[in-house]
Amino acid sequence: MRCPTGVGCSRIRRDEIAYSRPAVRVDSWQSVWLSGATACARDYGILYWYGWVVGRALWFVGAEADQRLSMDYPARYESQFSLDDGTPVYVRPIRATDVDHMMKLFEKFSPETVYFRFFSAMKSMPIDKLREFCDIDYDTQMALVAYVMEDGEESLVGVARYVVTPEEGGAEFAVVVADEWQNRKIGTNLFQRLVEAAKDRRIETFHGLVMNENIKALGIIRNSGYKYQKSVLEPGIAQVEFKLSDIKPSQAR
Ligand SMILES: CC(C)(COP(=O)(O)OP(=O)(O)OC[C@H]1O[C@@H](n2cnc3c(N)ncnc32)[C@H](O)[C@@H]1OP(=O)(O)O)[C@@H](O)C(=O)NCCC(=O)NCCS
Repeated sequence: MRCPTGVGCSRIRRDEIAYSRPAVRVDSWQSVWLSGATACARDYGILYWYGWVVGRALWFVGAEADQRLSMDYPARYESQFSLDDGTPVYVRPIRATDVDHMMKLFEKFSPETVYFRFFSAMKSMPIDKLREFCDIDYDTQMALVAYVMEDGEESLVGVARYVVTPEEGGAEFAVVVADEWQNRKIGTNLFQRLVEAAKDRRIETFHGLVMNENIKALGIIRNSGYKYQKSVLEPGIAQVEFKLSDIKPSQAR
């Protein structure tokens, strides 16, 4: 019997209710189950394909980014040289992943080395700054890192860096070598490789800040055959500047 009110079945007789209830329940549960299963299958199917498409897209984007990164990475500046005692030194452009080694290197610096390189007495280097040092845009910067093997592990012992300075022309350079590795030509070698990388970028001049008493910093420039101009910037600190075209690589010592 049809419910005349359209809301409930208050006018249906009891026996009709007793009879009709199971039939109604079975029918509805079957259809609920069936429609649920169909919906699940459909939804999971859609989800599966959606997941597959998204997964493939992410993989593609990731692979593209990897390829772009490895294309951007200037692997041509990877090189190797030996110290006078035969110790091999591996040089390559810095990577974002060098940050832990950079932190260890900074922790090993003597106060004097920190002062000569950063012109202030810093006890620690903020991690964000270290990341900035490592994750560079090779179009406007270059940092070459020097690694040696110590107790079977890679150890970062030096960094030479330039940053293009459009407002001043050319690029600003800086070099630092771990104290226990200084005076073994690592600074000179890194500096000369940095100069070559800068020339490839058509950078014409290098300028850098040097503390007046920093004989070694001036030593690596002289070792490389450059005659620099020195101007006092403020008491104790000088700016040195030279043209990269002044000498050819073969003339460098
Ligand atoms: C400056 C620095 C990068 C040089 O690196 P390094 O590996 O020690 O340098 P090298 O061994 O290649 O050359 C050092 C040169 O300094 C000169 N030098 C060193 N001691 C000297 C001394 N007592 N008197 C005169 N010259 C000296 C020499 O010319 C020497 O080269 P040589 O041995 O071929 O003669 C390193 O000393 C350093 O990290 N210093 C602290 C940070 C710093 O000053 N950075 C420079 C700011 S841009």
